[in-house]
Amino acid sequence: MAGTINKNNMSVAKVDDNRKVTTHRLIEMKQRGEKISMLTAYDYSMAKLIDQAGMDVILVGDSASNVMAGNVTTLPITLDQMIYHGKSVMKAVSRALVVVDLPFGTYQGNSKEALSSAIRVMKETHADCIKLEGGAEVRESIERILCAGIPIMGHLGLTPQSINKFGTYTVRAREEAEAKKLVEDAHLLEEIGCFALVLEKIPAALAARVASELTIPVIGIGAGGGVDGQVLVMHDMLGINQGFSPRFLRRYANLGEEITRAVQAYIEDVKSQDFPNEKEQY
Ligand code: KIV
Repeated sequence: MAGTINKNNMSVAKVDDNRKVTTHRLIEMKQRGEKISMLTAYDYSMAKLIDQAGMDVILVGDSASNVMAGNVTTLPITLDQMIYHGKSVMKAVSRALVVVDLPFGTYQGNSKEALSSAIRVMKETHADCIKLEGGAEVRESIERILCAGIPIMGHLGLTPQSINKFGTYTVRAREEAEAKKLVEDAHLLEEIGCFALVLEKIPAALAARVASELTIPVIGIGAGGGVDGQVLVMHDMLGINQGFSPRFLRRYANLGEEITRAVQAYIEDVKSQDFPNEKEQY
């Protein structure tokens, strides 16, 4: 891994290592203080670009329910739909570790159902591992899935599948009791064998504390810079999903505007008969 100097005069690792990213390598990255990059993808073409750019982890998130299917929450997406997205991404990816979310209702009911959902994802998509939301309340499901040799990434803090219980998408675990439960759940997930943990929308100091107490990598979204890596939803960071701008989001492109401009130019060229020209026909 070669290094470059960033704008803050700090040495940063450059991605020139084409070996497949594994759960074990993520733990090694935490041990040597190398930050983990993670981004969502749901289809073949975008996953190919994201993998080629050198992303460490690609998450086939159940946020597909929002950004791909247009649902208000992540709850409606089905296991079959997640498997469809997972398969499409897996055809494109050769380097990144691919994580597929277990959707709402496929692992909370009982641990046997959880195991069969996880097995379907692994058999049908060929993904590397799965992610699911929750702590002590889904312990039995996690243990049964882990017993089958399927690696699990946990997810605590703002867990969108519980939005109807929370009633709001605001920052979680600001109150002491909720923060205490989150820390206990994080330790539990590590103890029972999860290989990594996502912390969503919680105070930065709390997330940094969890990351320093755990030996497994902690990846944050709206959880500050004191964690071991960052994850964003691809449509948000590329400016495709224009109506969503929480404080934690950094936009790296304005593809929404770019796409609208390109589509309008095409419409204009068709109407004015500028397209196709002599060279663009047989
Ligand atoms: O589904 C998703 O995109 C996620 C991220 C927000 C972590 O779970």
